[in-house]
Amino acid sequence: MKTPLSDSALDQLFRAAHTAHGFGPEPVTNETLHALHDLLKWGPTSFNCQPARFVFIRSAGAKERLKPALSPGNVAQTMAAPVTVIVASDSRFFELLPAQFPAYDAKPLYENNATLARDTAFRNGSLQGAYLILAARALGLDCGPMSGFDAASVDAEFFPGGRFRSNFLVNIGTADPTKFFPRGPRLAFSEAAHIL
Ligand SMILES: Cc1cc2nc3c(=O)[nH]c(=O)nc-3n(C[C@H](O)[C@H](O)[C@H](O)COP(=O)(O)O)c2cc1C
Repeated sequence: MKTPLSDSALDQLFRAAHTAHGFGPEPVTNETLHALHDLLKWGPTSFNCQPARFVFIRSAGAKERLKPALSPGNVAQTMAAPVTVIVASDSRFFELLPAQFPAYDAKPLYENNATLARDTAFRNGSLQGAYLILAARALGLDCGPMSGFDAASVDAEFFPGGRFRSNFLVNIGTADPTKFFPRGPRLAFSEAAHIL
């Protein structure tokens, strides 16, 4: 077993990490976005498929394209965020599998089973989005994930070909602590887990 991370690292990743609903002025550089991807890409996925696609929205013009699809409660926080990420999934992820998992030809499993392909893209794309949140926290950033938006509108605007589907959004930057919501309680081990 490796050495557990320090208490301060665990605080930063989990215990003290709060969902951001407002942001300070510190920018998120392109170098940081590359560093973020260089971490999250190592998170495990089934057959090493990597269905997630990340659209980093920084410019005012791109924010304006996203704005009409947002739920009203998400507009101000998204406009204030230095970067908003569209976490999307590639519905034809299996076309890249021969390169991503050369040990076994898994492509036919998915190209001949639309339900399995859809479920696999959603499961692993969601995992990769979660890896993005933890990687961002590890780099010292704060995140505000959001599912309050019209996915069909986002897909029509940003993925008109129909191959990619938006899953959720993540605002990233440095949180404005005055905008944190009160911490909600988490389930106890006895409520959420069983040891059999
Ligand atoms: C997938 C997902 C979707 C969410 N959607 C929204 C949203 O649309 N708008 C919003 O303000 N917060 C949204 N949240 C934030 C959650 O309410 C928040 O992460 C949760 O209550 C935990 O808050 P805490 O980190 O401050 O403890 C979402 C979070 C996740 C992970």
